[in-house]
Amino acid sequence: MATTDDSVRSRTQDAFPVDNPVQALQRDHDLVRKLADAYRNTQSADVRKQAATQLIQAIHMHSRLEEGVFYPGVRRVDPNLIARFEEDHLAVDDLLATLQGMSLDEARTEPLVRELIDAVLSHIRQEEEQLFPELKQAALDLTSIGMEMQAFEANLVHMQAQLSDQASRR
Ligand SMILES: [Fe+2]
Ligand SMILES: [Fe+2]
Repeated sequence: MATTDDSVRSRTQDAFPVDNPVQALQRDHDLVRKLADAYRNTQSADVRKQAATQLIQAIHMHSRLEEGVFYPGVRRVDPNLIARFEEDHLAVDDLLATLQGMSLDEARTEPLVRELIDAVLSHIRQEEEQLFPELKQAALDLTSIGMEMQAFEANLVHMQAQLSDQASRR
């Protein structure tokens, strides 16, 4: 079972792969798959709730990073590469927003979490099978996008930590 130590946050302890930002996205995808497996393969309601909480956080952070920096950066180079992936994000963001407004103890969240997992796994597979190879083939220098992503993620992690600090003090 993944713990918060495996979460997106842990990457800030390693160097962000500035010259190869796709590698950072790939690591997020691996984490999302691991958490989705943990969610689907357990009989325990507690483990399922913990996995769902971490999964929602990991998808949220990953989507912010792609929508905030990676996609706009790639769009500047070639808008055609990105359009359909952005459409997928709208659907996933809707589901995320619904789930973030609900308690994960509620039984009615389960079909929504499963729907989220299906949508996200299919989306990340397409990024890996289509977008990432196309980017590699185009041999673009993604270092400036990588540097922006590093700063954006550090900021996101900082904000997240402040929010959970405030929540724990309440
Ligand atoms: Fe994406
Ligand atoms: Fe992605």
